[in-house]
Amino acid sequence: MARTIRRLEISDHADVNALCATLEEHDYVPDAFPQWADSKDSEPVGVFEGKELIGIVTLNLVPDSDIAWVNGLRVKADYHRKGVGSFATAHIIALAKQKGVRTLWYSTGSNNEASIGLAKKMGFVVADRVGYFRVDKPFPPHPSPSPNLHPLTVGPERLSEMLKDDSELVESKTLPLAWDFDFKTLAGLRRMAAETEFKVLIDEDGRSSGLYYSKAFVREDGTRITFSIFSRDQATFVDIMSRAFDDLENTGADRGVFFLSPKAKDWALSLGVVPGEYLNSSYFLFQLDPSKTVPRGRISPRSR
Ligand SMILES: CC(C)(COP(=O)(O)OP(=O)(O)OC[C@H]1O[C@@H](n2cnc3c(N)ncnc32)[C@H](O)[C@@H]1OP(=O)(O)O)[C@@H](O)C(=O)NCCC(=O)NCCS
Repeated sequence: MARTIRRLEISDHADVNALCATLEEHDYVPDAFPQWADSKDSEPVGVFEGKELIGIVTLNLVPDSDIAWVNGLRVKADYHRKGVGSFATAHIIALAKQKGVRTLWYSTGSNNEASIGLAKKMGFVVADRVGYFRVDKPFPPHPSPSPNLHPLTVGPERLSEMLKDDSELVESKTLPLAWDFDFKTLAGLRRMAAETEFKVLIDEDGRSSGLYYSKAFVREDGTRITFSIFSRDQATFVDIMSRAFDDLENTGADRGVFFLSPKAKDWALSLGVVPGEYLNSSYFLFQLDPSKTVPRGRISPRSR
C-alpha cells in the first residue's frame, strides 16, 4: 500500500494518541502534540499507510536561532524496522535544511538501541553525553547540606562569565536541561533561564565549586523534578545531591531525574543512590548540520 507523509493537524490528535498507545506507557507526546500542532515554530508530520497513521515526528525550531529539535519520533509497534522512522526523519532533515537550520538536535537514552541506531544511520553524531538516572520516592536517606557551601542564584550573564573563567566546571559546549540541551553560550543560557534558575555553590574561599538547576514536570502519573548537576569535587556533589533530595521531599515530588557530568555520575555510583537498572545509563545529544547533508532522493519506506 502507498505510504505518504504530510503535516499533522490538531484533528489528527486521536490517531497520534492511538499510535503512541502501541508503545511505552506515559508517553509525553500525546500531551505535547496539541502545542506542536498549534505553534508556528513546530512542524509535526505523520507517515501514513493508506489512511493509517504509522509514524510521527516533529521539527521544533528554537526561536531567534538556527537551532531546531527532532522531537517525538514514534513508529507504530507493528511497523518497526520497516524504514518508517528513517523516512520520517529524512523528511524532517530536509524540512530543517529548507528553513535554514544549522544545528539539528536529537536526544535519546543510552538504552534505546533503536533510536541510537536510527540517529547514526541518518548521519547524526554525538555532541554531548551526560550521566542519567532516576530515583522514585521514598528517597534515600541523605546528610543535611553543608553550612560551609552557599548556593547563589545567578542570572545567565553572570553564569556565562563564570563558565568562561572556569572551563573545568562544565567541559562540554552544551548543558542539559531536563531531556533537552542548550549551548553554554550567553544566548543558550538566556533561553535556559526562561525555564530554570541557575544555582552556583560558593565555597569558603569564594570559589564556585558546583552548578545545579532543576525543572519540574507535573504529569498524570505524578510529579517529577529533573536536576542537572556539575561539580568540581565529590564533597560538593554529595552536598548538591542532599539539596536535591531535600527539594524532592519538601515539594512532595514522586520522582527525581538526574542529568550529571561524567565525573558526577561516578560519584553518584559511589553514593549508592543509583538504582541497578541505571548503573550504566547515560543520555545522548545527537547533532547534525542539515545544510551539509546531501538530499537522499530515493529514501522511501520499504514494505517488508
Ligand atoms: C526508534 C524508532 C522510531 C525507529 O523506527 P523504525 O521505523 O523502526 O526505524 P527504521 O526501520 O527506519 O530503522 C532505521 C535504522 O535504525 C536502526 N534500528 C531500528 N530499530 C532498531 C533496533 N530495534 N535495534 C537496533 N537498531 C535499530 C537500524 O540502524 C535501522 O537501519 P537498518 O534497518 O537498515 O539496520 C522506533 O523503534 C520507535 O518508535 N521506538 C519507540 C519510540 C522511540 O524510542 N522513539 C525514539 C525517540 S527518542
